[in-house]
Amino acid sequence: MRNRIYVNLENTLAAIDRNIFGGFAEHMARCIYGGIYDPESPLADERGLRPDVIAALRRLRMPLVRYPGGNFASGYHWRDGIGPVEKRPARLDLAWHAIDSNHFGTDEFIHFCRLVGTEPFLVVNCGDGDMREARDWVEYCNGTADTAITRLRRENGFDAPHNVRYWGIGNEVDGHWQIGYKTPQEYARAFTEFGKVMKWVDPQIKLVASAISHWEGDVLERIRLLIEQASDLLDYVDIHWYFNNRADDFAAFMTVSETIEERLAGIEGMIRGVKLDRRIKREIAIAVGEWNVVYRTDLDKGIEEVYNLEDALVAAMHFNAFIRHARTVRMANIAQIVNMIAPIRTHKEGLVLQTIFYPFELYSTHCGDAALDVFWTGETFSGGEHTGVRVLDVAGTYREAGRELALFVVNRSRDAAAETAIKLAAGRLAGKVDVYTVNGSDIKAENTFDAPDRVGVSHTTLAAAGDTLEMSFPPHSVTVLVAQVQ
Ligand code: AHR
Repeated sequence: MRNRIYVNLENTLAAIDRNIFGGFAEHMARCIYGGIYDPESPLADERGLRPDVIAALRRLRMPLVRYPGGNFASGYHWRDGIGPVEKRPARLDLAWHAIDSNHFGTDEFIHFCRLVGTEPFLVVNCGDGDMREARDWVEYCNGTADTAITRLRRENGFDAPHNVRYWGIGNEVDGHWQIGYKTPQEYARAFTEFGKVMKWVDPQIKLVASAISHWEGDVLERIRLLIEQASDLLDYVDIHWYFNNRADDFAAFMTVSETIEERLAGIEGMIRGVKLDRRIKREIAIAVGEWNVVYRTDLDKGIEEVYNLEDALVAAMHFNAFIRHARTVRMANIAQIVNMIAPIRTHKEGLVLQTIFYPFELYSTHCGDAALDVFWTGETFSGGEHTGVRVLDVAGTYREAGRELALFVVNRSRDAAAETAIKLAAGRLAGKVDVYTVNGSDIKAENTFDAPDRVGVSHTTLAAAGDTLEMSFPPHSVTVLVAQVQ
């Protein structure tokens, strides 16, 4: 066998935080209006939501969804989006140069989350908004005392608090494209002051700091200042990235795993270093608050990305990395969930599941409770700046209930199957292995409104016993093996 994967069920890295299967919905082009909320569609329910979109999202089992942006959050004033719809002001959105009717706001989003079976994660405006507005939003959502703010919520039909647990303070504040760009010093101060009053309103909330999206020049300084100044408030540092294959170079695109690894290991090291230096014991996790492939679209013009098979392989590599870094990556949010750079695309009378939908669904469904420290070796390739990259990209998890091993394998070869021996160091395969494969005729295969099934999942079952399983992973594929072990 040319490739070998060694699995030891006793060799666990960390418990998996299911929040790595999070999503992100922004007021941007057709994500909210014309996607999630589409009163003009014949499919819409009485509140303008699309049950078909909700059903598709439920398949992804997202534990939380970040909202309302993104860049949009830096100019958003939440009061515009509550109360009687006909009285809400239309506003000029400077992030995407659009008019927002504000017909969809906090209460609609919470209702949508309840239908999807997910938790809301709200991002407060740290661009042209202030602390008072941020703390009032926490009170509107979570307050229980009888105040003018909680009365507003009750008047709007919500007696019980929304109990929003996750709160981001600002978005991509390190980018000059942001309304209210901040230097590392300015943001560390703003995060501390916003966070302080928000936690005073509700001490149970978890705070997410906008840390890195620019990846150049001040990465270390931003992480250092946040931890030095606000370690007692800070639950997550939020980092963002998007990859592309503008050069149409498959091999180079397949090495994004190396960049992901470099960035996660780098940020982990920075957090550990500052904590060591400052004798800080409190856990500070990483949230990858936006990740995906973006390059065919003009986001400003609302052009929608149509994903192909190679993008699905990149999505799978993200999940493999998040599993391998389970100790520190405690949240990740695919950007976004509907229409704009999303696994689901809609038209007025239906939807299509994009290629990236399928790895998301498989990982979210079969990921176990504990990440395994899987070791693998075998064939390599070169791409972009990298040499000696393993053709297989692998991660593994274990679920105690049912003694279930899940192995996630991406074969990055364009044209060769990867013949592989999988060896269990402890335990034995208990008879049956379910094999789920995402693949398509070629790496450029897309699912479109006219041809929605070019890329999908095939399922087979193998009989397997003993401590070795021999597999042939097809070219350009994602395979999820689910095996009972004894
Ligand atoms: O997801 C689209 C945009 O990309 C978000 O608004 C922003 O945060 C990022 O730059």
